[in-house]
Amino acid sequence: MITSIDETLLLGPGPCNISNSVRDALARPLLGHLDPGFLEIMESVKSRLRRVFDTQNAVTFPVSATGSAGMEFLLVNFLEAGDTIVVGVNGVFGGRIAALSEKLGAKVVRVEAEWGRAIDREAFCEAVRRESPKVAALVSGETSTGVYQPMDGVGDVCRESGALLFVDCVTSLAGMPVHIDSWGADIVFSGTQKCLGAPPGLAPVTVSNRALEVYRTRSRPTPSFYFDLDAILAYVDGEGGRSYHHTAPISMVFALDAALGEILEEGLEARWKRHAEAAAYLRSELGEMGFTPLVPEGERLNPLTTLRLPEGIDEAAIRGRLLTEHQIEVGAGLGPLAGKIWRVGLMASNAREESVDRLVSTVKGILS
Ligand SMILES: Cc1ncc(COP(=O)(O)O)c(C=O)c1O
Repeated sequence: MITSIDETLLLGPGPCNISNSVRDALARPLLGHLDPGFLEIMESVKSRLRRVFDTQNAVTFPVSATGSAGMEFLLVNFLEAGDTIVVGVNGVFGGRIAALSEKLGAKVVRVEAEWGRAIDREAFCEAVRRESPKVAALVSGETSTGVYQPMDGVGDVCRESGALLFVDCVTSLAGMPVHIDSWGADIVFSGTQKCLGAPPGLAPVTVSNRALEVYRTRSRPTPSFYFDLDAILAYVDGEGGRSYHHTAPISMVFALDAALGEILEEGLEARWKRHAEAAAYLRSELGEMGFTPLVPEGERLNPLTTLRLPEGIDEAAIRGRLLTEHQIEVGAGLGPLAGKIWRVGLMASNAREESVDRLVSTVKGILS
């Protein structure tokens, strides 16, 4: 039985464990959402997010809900019924972008890849050139398969074709290189519960000036109250006077500010390196026990490693025992990979050798 929630080591696809300073931030006394003290913290979050996204975009802020809300916020504002979107689909999260786009009445062109492989850049760029879509979407870190998508050159092709480049950075942000401006990405979202090291509950987004110009040409107002960009900007960006749109989730904004402060203090490059080293150590240690990486080298997502299990192991039983007897969570495979792989997350403060050692010695103990 689980005796204490505090003891669970979260090595699944997210959330991961949070630091004491993020926990302290969550416990801070509340402020009102229009209190100048709170607005100062919101401004700090916005400017720290710009540094973590590596962007100059003025419109950079946390949407008040989980990562999926970041996706929905961007699609409802920047895609209209009848528009075309090209989507790279090589796992659950690319599939989700395609599915929501369909619900919004867009024409969806899928560029698919096998689960566990990156989207072929040439095939994707070819589809963008051919379709001249309003939006072209890629998942930077596909958490269902553990693939990190190469982005070089894609932004240029999108620009030449008049497409906005949409990127899901939920699992890559702060764990692997993310360079919004040099990628030429226009509409981007993330989530707080992965390498940012905060609880689930906010979806950082960033929007380029080019995307804002496209937004101004919408044929109809955004068909949403909660996600209406202009209405939200009147609160998060309101120069000289902010108007109420919804009540900001105060404690989560405190927590995100603390988490971003820790990231910037560590330094992004150092943090990416720490995630890379922890992932390499995990692959090597579990490799010695017969686990094999699903994803070829060069396409691997360091914050989330996917591994096929050695022959004859009942993956669900061992995963269950890890959680209930040893308070260690690892993730199961999804879709066609269900029952075939584990998804092991080494994110934020969990991206270190100690987490791997605890997992590996416990698995060894269970298997012996
Ligand atoms: C790549 C990716 N995109 C989107 C999401 C959706 O985020 P959330 O579950 O916070 O709504 C996730 C969540 O795991 C994810 O890993």
